[in-house]
Amino acid sequence: MNKSIRLKLHPSEFQYNILVTDEEPFTSLAIKIRSLSYSNLILVTNTVVWKFYGSLIDSSFKRNGLTYSTVILPDGEKHKNIKTLQRIYDKMLLFKADRGSILIGLGGGVIGDMTGLAASTYMRGIRYIQVPTTLLAQVDAAIGGKTAVDYALMKNIVGAFYQPIFVYSNVNLLKTLSDRIYRAGMAEVIKYGIIKDRNLFLYIGKNSNDILSRSPKSLLSLISASSRIKAEFVEKDEKETSGIRVLLNFGHTFGHALESFTHYKILHGEAVGIGMIIAANLSYLLNLCEKEVPEKIERLVRAIKLPVSSNNLDMRYLSKSINYDKKSKADKINLILLKEIGMPVVYRMDKKMLKKILREVKI
Ligand SMILES: NC(=O)c1ccc[n+]([C@@H]2O[C@H](COP(=O)([O-])OP(=O)(O)OC[C@H]3O[C@@H](n4cnc5c(N)ncnc54)[C@H](O)[C@@H]3O)[C@@H](O)[C@H]2O)c1
Repeated sequence: MNKSIRLKLHPSEFQYNILVTDEEPFTSLAIKIRSLSYSNLILVTNTVVWKFYGSLIDSSFKRNGLTYSTVILPDGEKHKNIKTLQRIYDKMLLFKADRGSILIGLGGGVIGDMTGLAASTYMRGIRYIQVPTTLLAQVDAAIGGKTAVDYALMKNIVGAFYQPIFVYSNVNLLKTLSDRIYRAGMAEVIKYGIIKDRNLFLYIGKNSNDILSRSPKSLLSLISASSRIKAEFVEKDEKETSGIRVLLNFGHTFGHALESFTHYKILHGEAVGIGMIIAANLSYLLNLCEKEVPEKIERLVRAIKLPVSSNNLDMRYLSKSINYDKKSKADKINLILLKEIGMPVVYRMDKKMLKKILREVKI
C-alpha cells in the first residue's frame, strides 16, 4: 500500500511528495526517477546501509534502466562534518556532476542531512531525493529541508534550509534497524501525538505490540500520520521564523541537556523520551495541566520500551546544561509545555525559577 503526503511551501509554492510505502523496496523510487530528466544520478550512503541494501537498490535501478554512481561514506555522527562533505564534493567532481545532476541520500538522518547540504551548495544548488532508512529520518529528519553538518563541537551549526524534490519512505527498510535505534525513533512519533494528534497518541498505546514487532500495517499508519504532521508544521513555518515550528522541540530542551549530561551515552530519541516526561511533569507543577498528563506520557514511553529515567539523573546538574540550550536568551528561557495531550504552549520562564521547580520533578 502507498500513502502520499503533499508538502506545499508558501510563498514559493514549491511542493513535493512524501511517499510512505510497504512495497518491495525501491520499486516506485526507481520508476519515479525514470520519469525525471537529469544528467547523472549520484547515490550517497554509508557502509552499513549499503551492506544491507546495496544489491537490492542496484537490481531495482538496473531493472528500470537507471545508471548511477555511488558515494559510500563511513558510518556515524562523528563523520557528519566538513571533511566528509568535501568527500562528497570530490566524488561529485569526479563524476562530472553538473546543474542537471540529482543526489539521492540513502540512510538515516546523518546521511540525509549531509546529502541535502551537499545538494544545496554544489553549483549553488542541485536537486536531491531523500530515501530515509531509520524511523527517526522517515518521520522527522528527511522532511522539511533542514540540512547540516557539525562543526567545532557544535551540532548542525553549518547548514541550510533546502528542500528535496521528494521523499521515499519504505517501512520495510526499518526491519534491519537495531531495537534500540528503532525505539529511539518512536520517541519522535510519540512527540507528534503529544503536540498535535491525540488519536495518534491513543493509537500508539493500543498497538504497542504491533509497533514493537514493526508490523508494516502499523508502521504505515505511524509514518504517514507523523509525516503529515511534520509537513504541516513545515508548511506553516518553513524556516522557523514564526515560532510554530518551534513546538516540534517539545521534550528537546531537557533531552539535549540529558544528552550532554550523559556524555552522549544515551541516544537522542531516548533523551527526548525522558525530556518529554520532564516537560510534562513541569507543566503539572506549574498548574498548566492535570496530573494524568505526565502519567499518560510516562506510561506510553514505557510501553514502547524506552527509558523513563536515566541512572543518577540529578535535576540540579541537568538544569546547569539547560543554560547552553540555543533557545535560551539571557535570564529567561522559552519552554514547550503542555495544557493537554494535543495542546502544547510556549511558556517563557525565569531560569532561576526553572532550576527551583526542576528540583521538585521526580522521575
Ligand atoms: N534535518 C532534520 O530536520 C533533522 C531532524 C532530526 C535529526 N536530524 C539529524 O539526524 C541525525 C540522527 O539520525 P538517525 O537517528 O537516523 O541516525 P543515523 O543516521 O546515524 O543512523 C543511525 C544508525 O543506523 C544505521 N542505519 C540506518 N539505516 C539503517 C537500516 N535501515 N538498517 C540498519 N541500520 C541502519 C546507520 O548507519 C547508523 O549507524 C542527527 O545527526 C540529527 O542531527 C536532522
